[in-house]
Amino acid sequence: MSQMNRQLTFGVSLVTIAVLLLSACGPAAQPAAQPTTAPVQPTTAAQATAAPAAGKTLEIFSWWTTGGEAAGLLKLFDIYKQQNPGVEVINATVAGGAGSNAKAVLKTRMLGGDPPDSFQVHMGHELIDTWVTTGYMEPLDDIFTSEGFDKVFPKGVLDIVSANGHYWSVPANIHRANMLWYNKKVFDANGLKAPVTFDDFFTVAEALKAKGITPLALGDSGIWASVNLFETVLIGSMGADKYKGLWTGQTDWNGPEVKQALETMKKMLTYVNSDHSALSWDQANQLVIDGKAGMTIMGDWVDADNLAKKFADSGWAPAPGNTGIYDALSDTFGLPKGAKHPEQAKAWLKLLGSKAGQEAFNPLKGSICARTDCDPKLFGPYLQWAMQEWARDTIVPSLAHGAAASEGWVTDINNVMTAFVTDGDVAKAQTGLAQACTAAKVCK
Ligand code: GAL
Repeated sequence: MSQMNRQLTFGVSLVTIAVLLLSACGPAAQPAAQPTTAPVQPTTAAQATAAPAAGKTLEIFSWWTTGGEAAGLLKLFDIYKQQNPGVEVINATVAGGAGSNAKAVLKTRMLGGDPPDSFQVHMGHELIDTWVTTGYMEPLDDIFTSEGFDKVFPKGVLDIVSANGHYWSVPANIHRANMLWYNKKVFDANGLKAPVTFDDFFTVAEALKAKGITPLALGDSGIWASVNLFETVLIGSMGADKYKGLWTGQTDWNGPEVKQALETMKKMLTYVNSDHSALSWDQANQLVIDGKAGMTIMGDWVDADNLAKKFADSGWAPAPGNTGIYDALSDTFGLPKGAKHPEQAKAWLKLLGSKAGQEAFNPLKGSICARTDCDPKLFGPYLQWAMQEWARDTIVPSLAHGAAASEGWVTDINNVMTAFVTDGDVAKAQTGLAQACTAAKVCK
C-alpha cells in the first residue's frame, strides 16, 4: 500500500481547528454503491434544444438524492446552466445519507485517477486529512480573492477550509446535526410539549408508547444515523466544553459522562421502531410525518425533507440537553487535481459561494448560508430560527459528519455503535470508544 493510500485509509493527522468546529469524517468503508451519472435534464425548451458545446461538461459528485437534498442541488444546476449556457451538467450521485456509500465510490475514483470535476466533502478533517494533506486537491486562493469569499465567510469557517496558507474548498452551507423533530398534531392531541431534558424526553416517550405511537423514529440502515443520535446524547450528557474535549484528548472516554451517555442512549433505543436498521433517515422521518412516530433526532436536512414532502405540522427543538449548543457541519466543494473540466468547475465553485447561489440553495436544503450576508426573509421559520441560534449558540463539531475527528477514528466509532445498537453492552462500548481515541493517536 502506497504512503498516500495508507494516509487516505488511516489518516489521523489532526488539523488545528479554530474556535469553530468541523472535522473528521463520516462513516467510511461502507459497501460501494453504484454511482448514477445521469445528465441533468434541461428545464426549459430553449435549453433542451441547445446542444452542449464539445467538451463543455461539468460533473458534480454528491450523495444528495432525497427530495429536499436533490431539490437544492437541482436549483443550483438550473442557475449554473443559465450562467453557463451550453455546458452539460452531469449529476453523479451515490445514494446513502451522510455519504455512507458515496465516500467509498469517491475514493475509488480519486485513487484511480478519475476524479469528478467537483465533489461534496465535509469541512474539517474529512476535507483536509483525507484529500488536502494527501495532495489530491488544487488550492482555490484565486477564487476566494476574485469573488471576495475571504471577506464574506466567517473567520472560523475560513480557518477550517484552509491549510498550509491556502483555501481548499468552498462552503455551501452550515447544517445543524443536533435537532429533535416532532409531529405537532400528535403532540397536541396528546397534550405533550417538546422535551428539553432527557427526563422530559423519557416522560414524553412513555406517553407516546402508551398510545401505541412509536416514540422515536430511527433509520440507521447506515450506522451514521445512530452515531448522529449518539453525538447529541454525548453533548447533552456532558455539555459543549467536555464534548469538544473528547476530540482533543482533554475529556476522558473512560469517564463517567461517556458511561452516562451510553446508558441514556441504550434507554433511548428501547423507544425506537423495531425496523430501524432497515430504514434510511428520511424513511424514519416519514414515520413522523405519518403520525406513526412522535419524534426523530436528526440533522436539519429533515427541514428540507419536510418541505419537499409538504409536511406543515413539523415542530422542532434542540435534541434533549442540547439547548444553546449548535452541533455544526458544512457541505463544501473543491477542485480535485486532474479534474477534466477545471474551468467549468471553477464557475461552479463561484456560483456555490455566491450570495445568489447560497440564497437559492439553502432554503431548499434545510441549511443556513455559510456566508454572513444572506437575506433571512428568503428562509422558512425553522431556518430563520437556526440563523439566530448560529449567531448566539456555542458551536461544536459534528462527529458523524466529518467535523470532529479523522476518518479512521469515525470508522472505529461507527463499528462500536454497530455492535452497541444490537447488544447494548455499555462497558464494552465504552472500552471500544476509548480504544478508538487511542488508535487515533489523540488519547494515550
Ligand atoms: C450530511 C450532509 C447533509 C445531508 C445529510 C443526509 O452528511 O452534510 O447535507 O445530505 O448528510 O444525507
